[in-house]
Amino acid sequence: MDVRVHPDDGDVNEIKYAATWKHPHGILRKYPNLKAILSLGAGVDHILSDPDLPDGIPIVRLVDKKLTHEMCFHALHWVLHFHSGHYLYMNQQLERKWLQQASIQPEDSTVGIMGLGHIGKAIGESLVQQGFKVLGWGANQKPSLRDIQYFFGGDKLGVFLQKTDILINVLPLTKSTNNILRKKELERLPKGAFIINMGRGGIINELDLLSLLDEGHVTAAALDVFEQEPLLINSPLWTHPSIYITPHIAGQSNPQSSAKTIAENIRRIEDGETPFPVYDKTKGY
Ligand code: OXD
Repeated sequence: MDVRVHPDDGDVNEIKYAATWKHPHGILRKYPNLKAILSLGAGVDHILSDPDLPDGIPIVRLVDKKLTHEMCFHALHWVLHFHSGHYLYMNQQLERKWLQQASIQPEDSTVGIMGLGHIGKAIGESLVQQGFKVLGWGANQKPSLRDIQYFFGGDKLGVFLQKTDILINVLPLTKSTNNILRKKELERLPKGAFIINMGRGGIINELDLLSLLDEGHVTAAALDVFEQEPLLINSPLWTHPSIYITPHIAGQSNPQSSAKTIAENIRRIEDGETPFPVYDKTKGY
């Protein structure tokens, strides 16, 4: 394929596909013959935030095996950090304290995953394989998920949270998921719960999370995503002793495998097929 890297677009009439991550707003209108916008990351909220998108052009999400695998690793890393008490050993080391914590079996911890799309389901299945009890929550009904007990709809969110010891968020950011976890909802988690946010920052209210950490209702949180990225230098999240911060690296797009996935979607469009998966306006992702 003839690939041009913005801003060296050459003749804009020749551009048929735009593969983007956080593009400057408005620029996609420059290409009169655009057939599709393809996300270079899993989410498409960075595309939808452009108020000046060209009309009627399909937006294609990136579902890529390597990215999904990396997300599973990230989730497993933090689940083990919390479940196996490594956060306690880190603190003990600072005090030169030799203290063996009781070993807890994986089946005694319930991991609740919000967002059971490709990534959430893969994370859930990988944790089931490690012996964890896994629950899922999403907005819509789904076909049976075998080993993952699934709750759906707003009225089931509370029950799901009440049963969750370690909460993992991988929900996409949409109008209906924005700020879905505020103090009232987070308080439904059992006292001492842990949170891993690797979806979008806007899903969990950061100030409410801080207050629940300070009250000890939530023991610790691993945050990879934030309401504003990069995380502001003066954010209190940076220095909170019970918060672990990573800079949006939970699932980095692998250039080789994502290029193949994107090329395959372009081939589908050229052959008159539907690319996969296409952003669905009614669902918001
Ligand atoms: C994302 C990504 O969508 O990193 O957040 O792929």
